[in-house]
Amino acid sequence: MEISHVTVIGGGQMGSGIAQVAAQSGYNVSLVEVNESLLEKAKANIKLSAERLAKKQFKEDASKVDEFVSTVISRISGTTDIHTALSKTDIVIEAIVENVDAKKKLFSSLDKIAQPKTIFASNTSSIPISEIAKSTNRLDRFLGLHFFNPVPMMKLLEVIRIPETSDETYETCMKFGTKLGKTCVTCKDTLGFIVNRLLGAYTTEAVRMLERDDAKAKDIDIAMKLGASYPMGPFELLDYIGLDTTQSVRETFARYDPQNPLYEPSPTIDKLVKEGKLGVKTGEDYTKSE
Ligand code: CAA
Ligand code: NAD
Repeated sequence: MEISHVTVIGGGQMGSGIAQVAAQSGYNVSLVEVNESLLEKAKANIKLSAERLAKKQFKEDASKVDEFVSTVISRISGTTDIHTALSKTDIVIEAIVENVDAKKKLFSSLDKIAQPKTIFASNTSSIPISEIAKSTNRLDRFLGLHFFNPVPMMKLLEVIRIPETSDETYETCMKFGTKLGKTCVTCKDTLGFIVNRLLGAYTTEAVRMLERDDAKAKDIDIAMKLGASYPMGPFELLDYIGLDTTQSVRETFARYDPQNPLYEPSPTIDKLVKEGKLGVKTGEDYTKSE
């Protein structure tokens, strides 16, 4: 099966990045949001990101920057009407909030209106793909496509099969991921897949160091950047991912692995989320404050 039209649902940090990368790779894209103002915000973010990339890529020829950006934008049609988006699409990539009920509700309604051939993929960070997939009747055309933030820069795509995912669906998506310029890795539908299972342990330990006052957040970040060559320290990364997403991921991990002390509630993260301090997306990037 060939993919030519892509629908991305959710135009936040991840969905706008996925839509951008798909458009840059030549696909026609429908981007679905809940209202016009969020759609406008998503399109503005895509434009800024495409400009950043183009300015680097066409350093020698500034005239090509505008052409690149307008080609990318012209391939993305924003909509709040899911029916229009789904009428001709080959693959739906869901990137809405990290909430199992919201994702299941969405997929259940998509299943009733999408064409039978359409592949469904979730970009969930932590929810078992099988759990989301069972809200549909297309288990053979369901899988996880887990992108990384920021999507235009991060080269990895985790492709997560459930037992029912057909070989055709899997191979189509591996080819699709490669065409997006990503290196694809595969894993089972295991908690946190590969990257988040490991990142979860690492960031949890960092927050515990802070809670014990072993070191200041800035020093922990500097230590991991200069001592382990990580591009961001753990706190910078948590702010970048979003503390709301981080909290939801931790809750999912705790639900599926309740005996693991690693996933006990984090007082620091819970407090910040309660105060609406979610990291970069709400302007609480601690690296910019003293
Ligand atoms: N769009 C386009 N270009 C971008 C970009 C974006 N959103 N973000 C960064 N860039 C590019 C730009 O070319 C930028 O240059 P300009 O500022 O001149 O435009 C260049 O990257 C360098 O960026 P910065 O100078 O701002 O910073 P940097 O060198 O630290 O690179 C980074 C930025 C690529 C984000 C890097 O810090 C990094 O790799 N950080 C770690 C990110 C990471 O670990 N992501 C995974 C999170 S976990 C996840 O995603 C899974 C999950 O389920 C939660
Ligand atoms: P976000 O909060 O930035 O964006 C979510 C967007 O989905 C919002 O704009 C919201 O309006 C929209 N939305 C919610 N319900 C919708 C619906 N029914 N239809 C259309 N749009 C809807 O979140 P995000 O960081 O982009 O994360 C999205 C998903 O990607 C989550 O499942 C998250 O776990 C996963 N993810 C996040 C990261 C990260 O670093 N933030 C990385 C990989 C995967």
